[in-house]
Amino acid sequence: MTDRRPIVAGNWKLHLDHVEAVHLVTELGMRLRTMDVAGVDTVVVPPFTDLRSVSSVIEAEKLDLALGAQHVSEFDQGAYTGEVSAAMLARLGVTIVLVGHSERRTHYHMDDAAVARTAAATLRGGLIPIVCVGESEVERADGSTEEVLARQLGAVLGALDGADPERLCVAYEPIWAIGTGTAATPEDAGSACAHLRKLAEQHLGEGASRLRILYGGSVGADNAAELLLPSDVDGLLVGSASLTAAGFAGVLGAVADCYRSTRRSPRR
Ligand code: 13P
Repeated sequence: MTDRRPIVAGNWKLHLDHVEAVHLVTELGMRLRTMDVAGVDTVVVPPFTDLRSVSSVIEAEKLDLALGAQHVSEFDQGAYTGEVSAAMLARLGVTIVLVGHSERRTHYHMDDAAVARTAAATLRGGLIPIVCVGESEVERADGSTEEVLARQLGAVLGALDGADPERLCVAYEPIWAIGTGTAATPEDAGSACAHLRKLAEQHLGEGASRLRILYGGSVGADNAAELLLPSDVDGLLVGSASLTAAGFAGVLGAVADCYRSTRRSPRR
């Protein structure tokens, strides 16, 4: 039995402008009103330019949705053209930030040290980082998944001495599963997340049992429930299936049903 509340976050990446965002969140809100998903922490993670509009819809419609951002500056302020600070995001109602998504690591050269600094900036701003980790296809093939995860998570937790495990999440997103239609098997996702929890214990002690660990990579309504069955998987980070209200509501419904019908009982 776990008391870690399930969390499902929809990462829209570089999709949907603010007008499209308003339509999606409005429709999502209508669908959620007819469903029992109260036990699931639900997060939408739109592009920066949508945040204000999405937050207005959430507020006006009193939706039980948290607002996330896809990235944040490692700096609090200064001459950093193009950057957005954690304090700016907090002022817009953002409470959660994806940190070190593999697409940021690959396309914008974020190394482990930059991911750690960004996670620290997120916490300084009072926001919850979802620290993303995961191995590439090549690393998986040569058997170095555990080593890669240890390096990536160790860099962050080593730099965040004394972090509150309830103000932090980790997402295991194997790069080979992102956007490919081939998700990890529940067994593989479960063993990677169990490995991450063991690694977290080295820094957080027994607090690691309160850390929420998500799986991401080709998640949809059809495989969401089975991916949540392993005891160390506490949530899902969803990409393309979160780009429509029907798709995201489908995932949320599957997660809520799974938690209701299994030994897992969210209480927090
Ligand atoms: P997909 O669900 O489209 O594979 O994307 C996963 C992801 O990168 C979420 O952050």
